[in-house]
Amino acid sequence: MRTSMIVTAIAVIAGGSASALAATPAAKPLAFNPPALTSIPKGKFGAEVKLGENIFRHTTVYAHGIIGDALNCSNCHLNAGALADSAPMWAAYTAYPTYRAKNKKVNNFGMRLQGCFRFSENGKVPKLDSQTIVALEAYSYFLATGAPTGAKLAGRGYPKLAAPPKPATYAAGEAVYKQNCSLCHEADGSGQYVRGQTVFPALWGSKSFNWGAGMGSIKNAAEFIHANMPYGVAGTLSVQQAWDVATYIDSQNRPQDPRFVKSVAETRKKFHDNKFSMYGKTVNGHVLGAQK
Ligand code: HEC
Ligand code: HEC
Repeated sequence: MRTSMIVTAIAVIAGGSASALAATPAAKPLAFNPPALTSIPKGKFGAEVKLGENIFRHTTVYAHGIIGDALNCSNCHLNAGALADSAPMWAAYTAYPTYRAKNKKVNNFGMRLQGCFRFSENGKVPKLDSQTIVALEAYSYFLATGAPTGAKLAGRGYPKLAAPPKPATYAAGEAVYKQNCSLCHEADGSGQYVRGQTVFPALWGSKSFNWGAGMGSIKNAAEFIHANMPYGVAGTLSVQQAWDVATYIDSQNRPQDPRFVKSVAETRKKFHDNKFSMYGKTVNGHVLGAQK
């Protein structure tokens, strides 16, 4: 057991979130700060918001049986979906309904939540009127209390990242990973768990997001990683390192894309035909997406 490492890393996490919160918003989009979670009101509405917060933080417990991996929503949407530049829920909430190229239709907020269940959580899709979706909506609505509508909020999604100075490579990414990431996420990417609870989330393998997920795009992963990792010391990786390590992570095995049609080649053509997806490419003699 690597208890001492876990304890050290937890100390890093505890001390690290405040500095990440201090990021200055860009000038043009409107700045917004979500209300403190301690200000969740009492009563029925407050109870619904609290349930949503619990589902968001402890998805493996509260959405057990729905999700198919070991990731909590908050593993990718940091500070329980409140942190700017980590795809925060308050900035998302006011941006829907909106058209999404991914499913080629206008999505309301609930449909967007369903998307993260299907791909990022490798799970079943809860119905729009299910307790799970409704509570997550209540939680996001609360986080967006007082947010201006019809305007882009600073901190939505991830900050844009410049292209890498040199083409990103698997080998360079592996070196970055060993030096900066494997302490927490493990050399095999499977994460670390205490009494069945996720402490450090899986980056690949059966406990991680599937091939259809947003984080499976090297671009999204590089942007997320550059803005948010290594946890506690975010901002220390160069642009090049972020692209390299994102390429490495997104070149590993993970659960099948639930939209799979006929063959890996056909599925790539339909859903992954872009330079940021490694699905269907051969790495280390293995066709990514072809299940062993
Ligand atoms: C493996 C990482 C991961 C996990 C786990 C995850 N998400 Fe996401 N989520 C993403 C990525 C990547 C995006 C796209 C961000 C972007 O486009 O800038 C996203 C986008 C979203 C959006 C839209 C944000 C916007 O601004 O439009 C919502 C809402 C959302 N996720 C909710 C959830 C919920 C609820 C859960 C848990 C049930 C969850 N996510 C779990 C990675 C994840
Ligand atoms: C000190 C421990 C630590 C280190 C070092 C670290 N991470 Fe993380 N990482 C975390 C934690 C904790 C989370 C989940 C955040 C949360 O739940 O608040 C996370 C989340 C992530 C996620 C999103 C969740 C998922 O499973 O996909 C990615 C991607 C990621 N880290 C990549 C990296 C990369 C790449 C590095 C190295 C450059 C790195 N991390 C270094 C602790 C760490």
